[in-house]
Amino acid sequence: MKILGIETSCDETAVAVVEDGTSILSNVIASQVEIHSRYGGIVPEIASRQHLLASIPILEKALQDANIQLEDIDAIAVTNGPGLAGSLVVGVNLAKSLALASDLPLISVNHLEGHIYANWLDERNTPEFPLLCLIVSGGHTDLVLMTDHGKYEQLGRTRDDAAGEAFDKVARLLGLGYPGGPVIEKATIGIENPRRLPRAWLKGTDDFSFSGLKTATLHMARDLEIIADEPSPAIHKIAAEVAAGFQESVVDVLVTKTCEAAQKCNVRQILLAGGVAANTQLRETMTKRTPVPISIPSPILCTDNAAMIASCGYFRFVAGETSRWDLDVNANLQLV
Ligand code: KG4
Ligand code: ZN
Repeated sequence: MKILGIETSCDETAVAVVEDGTSILSNVIASQVEIHSRYGGIVPEIASRQHLLASIPILEKALQDANIQLEDIDAIAVTNGPGLAGSLVVGVNLAKSLALASDLPLISVNHLEGHIYANWLDERNTPEFPLLCLIVSGGHTDLVLMTDHGKYEQLGRTRDDAAGEAFDKVARLLGLGYPGGPVIEKATIGIENPRRLPRAWLKGTDDFSFSGLKTATLHMARDLEIIADEPSPAIHKIAAEVAAGFQESVVDVLVTKTCEAAQKCNVRQILLAGGVAANTQLRETMTKRTPVPISIPSPILCTDNAAMIASCGYFRFVAGETSRWDLDVNANLQLV
């Protein structure tokens, strides 16, 4: 069964074709990162206009790469939230129009659930329930117990900043650029003396907090006189050491708390999901310290894409979900 996935929740216009929820026939992503990096962050109005411009060419390319026509598709899956309202509207209306015009079922997908299903796109590994999922993206840091397809129990979440948001803000204050995760990862390669920064453990809970770490990083940057605009090479090196300390702190907290929760809940597997799961230090540390088998999607499937939406849509469709023609965007949609 072939599902066409459409994803426009943030600043990536993405369309993919996935067979039986696990096999990627095409996965096309148009990133707007260059446009938004001029402003140091995503400008919502620009994002939705870019989605409008990119969506049809990206759809055509996804069908072409999969070597199929729209008639060969069995259902259309689209992200309807959470995300930027103006961006979501473009994808949802494209999906609705295509489904209506081609008489195809229309399945709505929660973006966070989509991130989890990136783990089903590796045909060598089928996740086993019950499992623990750490979703770390630009807007969310959630620890979720998943007992079956579509069955979630939220164990913990961030009480303030999401992990990805903290990467983005810290990169900006250290003058390292945008988007935060990738630029911090690049700047910290080869740094041997990370500056020690604190960890917020929130002991006795499965919750996270990153705003204190962000403030501690800001104070350290001020003490070290790191100036964000046009730093000298020497200052850039110190900024990279601070960034390395920040990254180490985020990774230590995420890994320690996820491993503890996995043991407490007796799960069979841990899954990582979301843009921050593309981070090499997080992937390596998690793999080293995990008490149970771990699944981490390839980096390109951790950040926003439509293959994960198509995969999730497939499992919802075979579970009996039917078209909702009143489907609307929900910018604040929750997983649980
Ligand atoms: O899942 P995602 O692509 O979009 C959302 O749903 O938010 O996640 C984007 C977030 C951004 O905050 C970005 O800085 C972070 O993921 N990110 C990373 C890396 N790549 C992307 N964070 C750390 N290391 C990376 N390599
Ligand atoms: Zn995302």
